[in-house]
Amino acid sequence: MSVQTAVAKYDIKDIALADEGKRRTEWAERSMPVLRQIRARFAKEQPLKGLRLSACLHVTTETANLMVTLRAAGADIALCASNPLSTQDDVAAHLVRDHGVHVYAIKGEDHDTYYTHIAQALAFGPDMTQDDGADLVGALHMLALNRLDDLAPPIRRWVEALSKEERRAAVASVKGSTEETTTGVIRLKAMAKEGVLQFPIVAVNDSSTKHMFDNRYGTGQSTLDGIVRATNMLLAGSTVVVAGYGWCGRGFAMRARGAGANVVVTEIDPLPALEARMDGFQVMPMSDAAPIGDLFVTLTGNLHVIRPEHFQTMKDGAIVCNSGHFNVELDLEALGRIASERRMVRNMVEEYVVNGKRIMVLGDGRLINLAAAEGHPASVMDMSFANQALAAELLAKESGTMAKAVHRLPAAVDQEIARLKLQSMGIAIDKLTSEQVEYLSSWDAGT
Ligand SMILES: NC(=O)c1ccc[n+]([C@@H]2O[C@H](COP(=O)([O-])OP(=O)(O)OC[C@H]3O[C@@H](n4cnc5c(N)ncnc54)[C@H](O)[C@@H]3O)[C@@H](O)[C@H]2O)c1
Repeated sequence: MSVQTAVAKYDIKDIALADEGKRRTEWAERSMPVLRQIRARFAKEQPLKGLRLSACLHVTTETANLMVTLRAAGADIALCASNPLSTQDDVAAHLVRDHGVHVYAIKGEDHDTYYTHIAQALAFGPDMTQDDGADLVGALHMLALNRLDDLAPPIRRWVEALSKEERRAAVASVKGSTEETTTGVIRLKAMAKEGVLQFPIVAVNDSSTKHMFDNRYGTGQSTLDGIVRATNMLLAGSTVVVAGYGWCGRGFAMRARGAGANVVVTEIDPLPALEARMDGFQVMPMSDAAPIGDLFVTLTGNLHVIRPEHFQTMKDGAIVCNSGHFNVELDLEALGRIASERRMVRNMVEEYVVNGKRIMVLGDGRLINLAAAEGHPASVMDMSFANQALAAELLAKESGTMAKAVHRLPAAVDQEIARLKLQSMGIAIDKLTSEQVEYLSSWDAGT
């Protein structure tokens, strides 16, 4: 039994924006053929019939297509934002007006409103959740462990109004959750390791059809898009410092080089550092990169990757931004302390003056591809959200027998999503001959 406590039906910027949201969502839908196929099957089979689902995701046109798919499967849905700056207000209005989704998200919402919206999604009484960064699932776990002091005040207020029995049921009714991104998966694996995970998780990010494409090609292109929209800077001939050479960093470094930039990579792990070098990039510590970069982009999922000692040696006019999940990669609090002046010079661009030199911070250090642009192209989210939809179906069918651990979707699902994507692109591939199958499974054939 789930616990539904009274909540407003929705909290969005303006319902009158729904027509524009509908047009843009339909535009994204054209590039999401795999999700469309899943939607058609879900509409017939109703795998989520009667389930209440609370999702904490970036409220974009692609997410709208996922929500429509989950609605077609029979779910009743509450949706809040997974970042205060990533909501597209027209999309939120479209989902409320045309699909009966309870959306709690407004672009630019303050800290308190962000967490009030998460509390509203929790008060919806979910049987299942979907997360991007584990803010919603993390709050449920703080509740389960009675760590109320660690909850953001709006969520704590909601919890404090619940009876003991309601608090227990709010966690116990959740059959499972999906998690979209690297940072969320890291947190959930830490919970599993500590033995505190309360329900099974499907790590969508761990599917190859997610991180190989979304994190690399999606983040690569959309991060560049966000930077260009925010600044209109010329990449050609500039020196771009990329912090982190994981899936996202590799994608962005590749695209920055394609735009004519001289790319420098910083890392803390010798393997990706070596890979970056052999991919043809310069590799050096941030302290050496700071004085030479024109543009700095963090994509690490780590804390304070660019710190005061780095800001202090940057060139006049250096541009700094982040595309990792949380706004913690740039130490902006410290930058605020060492800056003598601070002002907005353009939408999304804040200028800090340090030692008489100007440093431009984009999008308040929040993931720039969603703050200043539209996030990943729909074609890549097609695969990420095919994984999300199939993960929700798996949890609906099998969560009762799944361990309270972080799971991957079966490899066969990954293969099928890749096959459908290729098919939608009109690309055929070869099949193993029976002789090749035998050869690959034997060990005694030599030269
Ligand atoms: N902007 C987006 O739309 C988007 C999309 C997908 C993932 N993400 C987020 O981007 C971040 C990176 O994701 P990923 O999939 O590339 O992770 P990843 O684990 O593949 O790569 C992260 C890399 O950063 C390196 N690193 C860690 N600390 C560092 C430091 N101090 N300096 C330099 N390098 C450091 C690691 O060694 C690793 O190679 C995560 O927070 C993830 O959630 C954002």
